[in-house]
Amino acid sequence: MTQEGGIAEIVVRHQDGKTPARGALLPILHDIQAEYGHISEETVRELAAALNLTRAEVHGVVSFYHDFNSKPAPLPAIKLCRAEACKARGVEALVPDAERAAAGRVKIETVYCLGLCSVGPSAMVGSDVHAALTPEKLNALIEEAA
Ligand code: FES
Repeated sequence: MTQEGGIAEIVVRHQDGKTPARGALLPILHDIQAEYGHISEETVRELAAALNLTRAEVHGVVSFYHDFNSKPAPLPAIKLCRAEACKARGVEALVPDAERAAAGRVKIETVYCLGLCSVGPSAMVGSDVHAALTPEKLNALIEEAA
């Protein structure tokens, strides 16, 4: 979800009458972080204009507090082995459905051999390895990671 458009609604939530809620910058930033997972440069610009602050003032607050991220967190990743032994054991048939299920929520990364060749298709999530993947098992891993 993009932040643009939703920011004005959050600012209005913290408005004091018709006055822009300058003193509400921190609660506004917390709401934006909670809703969108990060505070983009465009949002900093929009907030500065809405609250009659400089971009430097808003950026200073965003960069000072560790609770705020200026970029979205990376997607969780599943490393899917697509080397020869896993190909022979059917990994390529799993890929289209996995990519569809993961779309925008989990990154499916290709790796070449996880050392589980005889029990492939194999994947790694964090430090956990998973073997003998079926469409159902891989889908469960995607749902768990998302
Ligand atoms: S080829 Fe896939 S684990 Fe080795």
